[in-house]
Amino acid sequence: MRLRTVSALLMSLLGSGLALQIQCYQCEMTDDCAAPEFIVNCTVNVQDMCQKEVLVNDDGILYRKACASSSACLISSSGYQQFCTGKLHSVCISCCSTPLCNGPRQKRRPLPSSGAAPTGLPLLMLVLLLLDSILC
Ligand SMILES: *[C@@H]1O[C@H](CO)[C@@H](O)[C@H](O)[C@H]1NC(C)=O
Repeated sequence: MRLRTVSALLMSLLGSGLALQIQCYQCEMTDDCAAPEFIVNCTVNVQDMCQKEVLVNDDGILYRKACASSSACLISSSGYQQFCTGKLHSVCISCCSTPLCNGPRQKRRPLPSSGAAPTGLPLLMLVLLLLDSILC
């Protein structure tokens, strides 16, 4: 009985905590920017990923970083995959979903273009639901 109340409370807390906000680096420069002044708060529940674009042009490498929605980022990332050659005029776009993950030389696990990785939150809720039904 009591556990049910506790987990219900937890669930509602989680529910209100579903306002998902991450921070990303935002810049457009020849440097793989990582200074604190380039950190921005992404739009809650809309921009759930950090995007990093690396362009190779005649002047060298240009980095373009920003918050992005996962759908937009994954679409451009897969759309530009064929242009990600590492040579002149190469364009590589990567997406990641942890805070500040578009910093320099981040060990990024490339996301499969087939879909976004699920966040941990639904799993946590599932576990709570399971606990609830087992223990009450
Ligand atoms: C981001 O949000 C945090 C907490 O809401 C705030 O303290 C910080 O100043 C914000 N940063 C920027 C760059 O807006």
